[in-house]
Amino acid sequence: MDLLSMMKHRRSIRKYQNRPVEWEKLEKIAEAGIYAPNPGGRQGTKVIMLDDAELIETIGIVNADCENRNWNGRSVSADQPSIIDDLSIKSGFYGCPALGVVCIQKILKTHVNAIGAAFVTAQNMVMEAYALDVSSCIVGRAEATFEKPEMQALLAKWGLDEEYMPLVFVCLGYIDGPYPTAKPRSEGRLLYIKK
Ligand SMILES: Cc1cc2nc3c(=O)[nH]c(=O)nc-3n(C[C@H](O)[C@H](O)[C@H](O)COP(=O)(O)O)c2cc1C
Repeated sequence: MDLLSMMKHRRSIRKYQNRPVEWEKLEKIAEAGIYAPNPGGRQGTKVIMLDDAELIETIGIVNADCENRNWNGRSVSADQPSIIDDLSIKSGFYGCPALGVVCIQKILKTHVNAIGAAFVTAQNMVMEAYALDVSSCIVGRAEATFEKPEMQALLAKWGLDEEYMPLVFVCLGYIDGPYPTAKPRSEGRLLYIKK
């Protein structure tokens, strides 16, 4: 499949099999992340990859608890319900067996370029995952998730430099059920100015 077709067909997946993702694939996905464009050529993002499903579930529950889940009936996805759509989902990581954690420097946490760098890193990871038949979902609320001392202790245990903080997550795993169809695009989002 060419790249544009891949981008059109990729979906955010929130139903995962209880089956690990091979480290050979996880390493390629993490590597794709650090090849993303980065502001000023600073290569300022770091990617943590973990495959401890139990630990991921523990962090995911904290992550879900950081979200205000009362969105007054607004729906994210009917075929891949999010924690907003289905209040019975306990983990913001949807039971995924592997997790990418994209980190930025704390001092840049409000800088639009640093935030952008984290998300393009995540996007590279999502596309590499799709190319490897691994499903994914970008998930936010990383700063809030790691606020508590016990969560900060995890970062220290993982050996993350103290000057860095998690900014965005990438859930990874094999899809449980059929792959959902591509979402049509809303009208009027492209404006071509031709000479
Ligand atoms: C910046 C960003 C943050 C997101 N945060 C979450 C999140 O916290 N939880 C979640 O389930 N999905 C999250 N998503 C996934 C979006 O809900 C998803 O991309 C959107 O609904 C479109 O669906 P699609 O990716 O299947 O096309 C996020 C996506 C982006 C780009």
